[in-house]
Amino acid sequence: MSHVRIAPSILAADPGRLAEDIARAVEGGADLIHVDVMDGRFVPNLTFGAAVIAAARRVTSLPLDVHLMVVEPERYLAPFAEAGAAIFTFHPEATRHPQRHLAAARELGMRAGLALNPGTPLALAEEVLDDVDLLLLMTVNPGYGGQSYIPASTAKIRRARALIAAHGDRAWLEVDGGITVDTIATAYTAGADTFVAGSAVFGTNDPGAAVRELRRRCAVHV
Ligand code: DX5
Ligand code: ZN
Repeated sequence: MSHVRIAPSILAADPGRLAEDIARAVEGGADLIHVDVMDGRFVPNLTFGAAVIAAARRVTSLPLDVHLMVVEPERYLAPFAEAGAAIFTFHPEATRHPQRHLAAARELGMRAGLALNPGTPLALAEEVLDDVDLLLLMTVNPGYGGQSYIPASTAKIRRARALIAAHGDRAWLEVDGGITVDTIATAYTAGADTFVAGSAVFGTNDPGAAVRELRRRCAVHV
């Protein structure tokens, strides 16, 4: 249980009450705050940039887990480091030289994360895994909150866990999309240790209780 990390996604928060929503997730024991950056190109939707990362930085001391769903994510390495991102996770599908950008993220003092779409083979992460601090498996197609967990993800989580174990068990294994009180235990028992939850936290009227309940669902499956 020590390595269950819950990362509420502010995509599902109320933008007009961002500070209050983050505070409620923190009160429930959130470990990270997940920030979904979308550019309207890699995914259809458009969301936040450096200004919102900096705003979140001002209202919480929790690490900001920034997930870039943008083409050419390398353009945002320096601005997001400056804005206070603790983790810089990008999609290798969206750039040409992922290893270079993983290394650059670390040089800027961030953890380096690599995110894979449901249709992207794990092989894309394998060759660079020693440069990865966090492997994010999308368990929905990225772009929107509130979608349903894709069942085929479970086998991929298991294979990713084995791959990480073969590389010294160092990288965190994060799942993102459709994680709820009904799906989190499946992902946890398959080997995930870090759980993004948007609507399952901020779509409820008690985000703190929702975070506690998500964690509890992992605990009962130990
Ligand atoms: C989806 C984003 C997710 C999103 C998850 O493209 O990457 O982080 O916030 O939302 P839920 O938990 O509602 O599926
Ligand atoms: Zn995300």
